[in-house]
Amino acid sequence: MSVEQTLSIIKPDGVEKNLIGEICRRFENAGLQIVAARMMHLSKEQAEGFYEVHKERPFYADLVSYMTSGPVFVQVLEGESAIGKNREIMGATNPADADAGTIRKDFAASIEENVVHGSDGPETAAQEIAFFFGDDGLCPRTR
Ligand code: CMP
Repeated sequence: MSVEQTLSIIKPDGVEKNLIGEICRRFENAGLQIVAARMMHLSKEQAEGFYEVHKERPFYADLVSYMTSGPVFVQVLEGESAIGKNREIMGATNPADADAGTIRKDFAASIEENVVHGSDGPETAAQEIAFFFGDDGLCPRTR
């Protein structure tokens, strides 16, 4: 076990449903701390760049269109095993497969519109955090 940082995105459907507070509450209740946060409307180029790993997948164009359809809430979560904890709290990518009590089971409409994104491992987390917050965009919790 170690203290990790991970990137979380509340996607346009989550923002539209006014779930920012509810979702942050779940992260904080699990002991995670928010060390950076930003509301933004992604450009096509930003969404394409962020999801470049999925460029060859059949859902890529729809994914970019969805992620640019409205504002997103991007944040960095920090805490013990933050990457795995965030993924547990989100639930499976497809809400139909997600466990009861997870964000996606409770709020996601489909595998395409699934409310939240979370980094899937340490390398991805570092890349994704740098993508949105650079090297010095985090705010250490001094108390
Ligand atoms: P996310 O965890 O952000 O990673 C890639 C996103 O692509 C995923 O959540 C969904 O929003 C979207 N997506 C759409 N269709 C699929 C699919 N068949 N498999 C995985 N992800 C999909």
